[in-house]
Amino acid sequence: MKKDTQSIHAGLTSGISGATVPPVCQSVAFAYDTARELADAFEGKGPGYIYSRLGNPTNAALEARLTHLENGIGCIATSSGMAAISSVAMGLLKTGDEILAAKGIFGGTTSLFCNTLKRFGIETRLFDPAETDDACYRITDKTRLLFVESIGNPGMEVPDIPALAEAAHEKNIPFVVDNTAATPMLVRPGDLGADIVVHSTSKFINGHGTAIGGAIIDCGNYNWHGGIFEDIRRLSQTRGQLAFLWHLRNLIYRDLGGCPAPMNSFLMLQGLETLPARMKIICENAAELAKYLQRHPQISWVNYPALEDSRFKTRVDRIFGGLGGGLLTFGTGSKEKAFRFIDATELALNTTNLGDVKTLVIHPASTIFHEFGMEERQKMGVGEDMVRVSVGIESVEDIKDDFTNALILFQDEA
Ligand SMILES: Cc1ncc(COP(=O)(O)O)c(C=O)c1O
Repeated sequence: MKKDTQSIHAGLTSGISGATVPPVCQSVAFAYDTARELADAFEGKGPGYIYSRLGNPTNAALEARLTHLENGIGCIATSSGMAAISSVAMGLLKTGDEILAAKGIFGGTTSLFCNTLKRFGIETRLFDPAETDDACYRITDKTRLLFVESIGNPGMEVPDIPALAEAAHEKNIPFVVDNTAATPMLVRPGDLGADIVVHSTSKFINGHGTAIGGAIIDCGNYNWHGGIFEDIRRLSQTRGQLAFLWHLRNLIYRDLGGCPAPMNSFLMLQGLETLPARMKIICENAAELAKYLQRHPQISWVNYPALEDSRFKTRVDRIFGGLGGGLLTFGTGSKEKAFRFIDATELALNTTNLGDVKTLVIHPASTIFHEFGMEERQKMGVGEDMVRVSVGIESVEDIKDDFTNALILFQDEA
């Protein structure tokens, strides 16, 4: 099936009720007729759910659909995107290990890697995702994980996924791609060699700002049996290529408790049904808005990877089939002007979310990145005059009018 069809039908099992949407299974626990059956379920000998922190039928429907969409071998749905990323890190790393991560990625992920995991003796090195060689140069004998975002938020960098996959595999390191911003509609990183895909499903997948969620998909490319993680290697003798997901679900996920509420998985499944249609409009609107802003005299710079003069245009064509996604950043010249622009918009909402059907704007330096000092922000590519836009599916004429009016006002006030 094509991705447009899978996003509606994959993982849909109507069961005895004949329901045309996966029902919300709002049950904490699952009962068995005999003590033997429940004991078998605990030992993983028989099929069946035990307790919703470990697995739940509605969550499983979402996991099945995401597995299909990312062409993976399995998925674990989580309570948030951060729960997905932290579970992968906790599942693979120990004190003394290092992460090699791209610069210009989500502030929460940077904080997890550089602050929280540092407290547990895990160091993070950052590399420039524009330069694959920079990643190769920074891999050390302690590196246990290579991490990028398919489109950096808010850096807007597009890493060369196939080249980085090759570099990681040469050193037998798993390559993790956060595919939140591109979504499987633009790229399936596993098809290009990535090992693990993570998502914040709170964003484009949900699409309507109604639930927080995340997901981890094993793309089946990393050879866990021959890998560098002793406990997963041992597990692979019985679980084969599913050893990593087994290890996550039965240890990390179970112990940390990052499971989603079934109602949230239901909302993600609803969102997925329209993801292909929304992404088409969002990408068209974003491309047009980016071109419009580039021509606007009040705007100093525009960063959208599908612009003709973007340094990532050739990668966008090669990896995303020419589509640039729904995020763009632009410069107003100063923080004060950025604030005035945001205050003056009427249609666009000033909020920290992204991937919504509604157009959203934010000043990243004073919000998502406020806890980092100005110097650190500069290194991360988060300038004081930067405005980030998550383009919605409204009429692009209305979005442009809103921005034009906000910029006129700001011109008068200047
Ligand atoms: C690229 C990316 N990854 C992960 C996250 C974290 O997701 P969540 O807010 O669902 O925890 C975000 C949140 O903005 C994000 O933009």
